[in-house]
Amino acid sequence: MNILILGSGGREHALAWAVKQNPKTDRLIVAPGNAGTAMLAENADIDILDGAAVVTFCEENAIDFVIVGPEAPLAAGVADACRAAGLLAFGPSAAAARLEASKAFTKEICDACGAPTAAYARFTEPVAARDYIRAQGAPIVVKADGLAAGKGVIVAMTEAEALAAIDDMFGGEFGAAGAEVVIEDFMDGEEASFFILTDGTNALPIGTAQDHKRVGDGDTGPNTGGMGAYSPAPVLTDSLQQQAMDRIVLPTIREMARRGTPYQGVLYAGLMIRDGQARLVEYNCRFGDPEAQVLMMRLGAQALDLMLATAEGRLNEAQVNWADDHALTVVMAAKGYPGAYAKGSQIRGLEELPEDSRHMVFHAGTASRDAGIIASGGRVLNVTARGKTLREARDAAYAMVDRIDWPGGFCRRDIGWRAL
Ligand code: GLY
Repeated sequence: MNILILGSGGREHALAWAVKQNPKTDRLIVAPGNAGTAMLAENADIDILDGAAVVTFCEENAIDFVIVGPEAPLAAGVADACRAAGLLAFGPSAAAARLEASKAFTKEICDACGAPTAAYARFTEPVAARDYIRAQGAPIVVKADGLAAGKGVIVAMTEAEALAAIDDMFGGEFGAAGAEVVIEDFMDGEEASFFILTDGTNALPIGTAQDHKRVGDGDTGPNTGGMGAYSPAPVLTDSLQQQAMDRIVLPTIREMARRGTPYQGVLYAGLMIRDGQARLVEYNCRFGDPEAQVLMMRLGAQALDLMLATAEGRLNEAQVNWADDHALTVVMAAKGYPGAYAKGSQIRGLEELPEDSRHMVFHAGTASRDAGIIASGGRVLNVTARGKTLREARDAAYAMVDRIDWPGGFCRRDIGWRAL
């Protein structure tokens, strides 16, 4: 079959890598893609937020299956446009993607289905929001309601930080995403990511991971999109996964179906674990990035079968065959990220690295020039390895990192520290 993957990050390179290994795949196109996807698929330059343009491209290229990677096209209704045109698509409708696109909506769903999460209040003007913060005190969490490219959640350790977040959000720093604000109780504990495929009725857990959101070693410095990840996440034991399914995920899936907006795709539940209890931090309506890199490394070719079963509504027939191993990815970013960074620096040594079912460098912000691969974004490479143990996976990933010659880049040196 001919398959189109939408997106250009490390997540989409990892999805393409897994899909490409499946014998069902004939032609594979990634739009817009990056220098890494161009090595195993065709890149196509289309506006992935424009549902009509995606449908036209699919019709012109006889695409059989569309996999939507990032949240923005899902929230913009690109999966709806594909399905309305009779195309098979993996990813929720815009109505269901509100589980990520509106923090207030997620809270409403949790209230309706009884899923445990932090107590909260929502505000559309700053005076009442500030009064609430002063009454509650810190630490406290301030969230822009809408999509803010991962920057709309402020975990404020002081009242002053929380009040500054309110000023930023209502001051327009996050555009329309900050027109409504959700203020939540701070939840203490260990955070982990749980990934579940659902066709709207059936649900299949496909793995756990932990990422490292802060830029610096020891979880210091500003938040990023993620500086590394590993799978599985030992904190999410089998019994905690079952608890999360029973109390959070399945009630959410049933509530979405009851409202006439069934959720189809991958549901990424960010969970806070404490004292043997899982509570929902947030939902995302897509695979995590860089969590997808470690999940795809462990799933391999079956990822396509699972996504097809999801899109075709037959997840009840599907099962996951897990390799009993570990995967770890180290993100290499351009110096300065998540602040200002330079583009165009040259990356050498990639061609000498192993590329097989246990070692991969997934590209994110890269471009191909005559002189070779250059950095074209903030997060640039995801150096990924599998091992029988997490330590083995970590050592293999860092051994690859150390062979990459990129003076313009940096990475954290402690990915996996919590589990190790
Ligand atoms: N790594 C966090 C995310 O994908 O949202």
